[in-house]
Amino acid sequence: MLATGAVAAPTLAALHEVVPHSGLHHALAGHGDGTAHAAMEHGQAGHGAMSAPGIAMHNSFAGSVDNEANGFDPSELVRDFDLGSTSRLPDGRTLREWTIIAQDREIEVAPGITYPAWTYNGRVPGPTLRARQGERLRIRFVNGSDHPHTVHFHGIHPDFMDGMPGIGEGRGGGQIKTGDAFVYEFDAEPFGVHLYHCHAMPLAAHIAKGLYGAFIVDPAESREPADELVMVMNGFDTDFDGENDIYAVNSIPFHYVEHPIKVKRGELVRIYLVNLLEYDPINSFHIHANFFDYYPTGTRLEPTEYTDTIVQGQAQRGVLELRFPYAGHFMFHAHKTEFAELGWLGFFEVEE
Ligand code: CU
Ligand code: CU
Repeated sequence: MLATGAVAAPTLAALHEVVPHSGLHHALAGHGDGTAHAAMEHGQAGHGAMSAPGIAMHNSFAGSVDNEANGFDPSELVRDFDLGSTSRLPDGRTLREWTIIAQDREIEVAPGITYPAWTYNGRVPGPTLRARQGERLRIRFVNGSDHPHTVHFHGIHPDFMDGMPGIGEGRGGGQIKTGDAFVYEFDAEPFGVHLYHCHAMPLAAHIAKGLYGAFIVDPAESREPADELVMVMNGFDTDFDGENDIYAVNSIPFHYVEHPIKVKRGELVRIYLVNLLEYDPINSFHIHANFFDYYPTGTRLEPTEYTDTIVQGQAQRGVLELRFPYAGHFMFHAHKTEFAELGWLGFFEVEE
């Protein structure tokens, strides 16, 4: 597995050096003159077949990732909420169930760059699990990976349901060995946008390899209807030096440059934003030419902030709500230039 990363490393190391100087800066420098238009027309800044004119130039990488081979497409993943299957408990409550399988899997994380990921259900991020406050949740975890793992949910639950190595082994929980399984069961509390991730040691490696996902608990009284999106901010350390080489939302750098997220003018857009980036202390989200209401952790129904930029440490998350008053293309990205230049950048395409 390491061989792949070792082969990939020189390419990305080179990109890391080259991109900030001749990639995005070059493209941005062309905003006011003919340079970027020339680059754009000749396709030097990315293929951009699906993108509107002028957008592809913001992709510093040439070519595109084979989403089909990866088995997940960020354009679908952004609106993919896994509701599991439901049944009625004797006391009348809803029981909601999922199966999550840990699998080792090579994924192409940038054009031509594969990464030996550890995944939940074959994708990074794992499925966005969605429930309603007060439901009983049952998650059957099967470890099909060559390494021991757990599923640690953020939420409120008994200690042996916490996916913590060393706690609950006597009851079949704790660290789950290769080939073993465990059923996590707890109540969906509190409402908000949460997360889950592996908590096996060394923790940084188990998270960085891809074992994480968003976990949404809807309030008992639904939020206002909206076009809902999930964005998991992440990155990949492709040369295994403890620093990220690419950054993204939903794993694939510049995906939403090549394939902007289409939304309707005037319609409420709700983004469930979760920071699962390992190795870097903070991440951020910035929207261009607009502002949003921000509900930290989504645990209250009143926003605490009206802004165009928020910062999240790892595991921090929140709900963003906004409407686009104008049709057109609106950029969103980490307001940390290095992250944006290495992939954490995309566009909304606002249609009439
Ligand atoms: Cu793990
Ligand atoms: Cu955590």
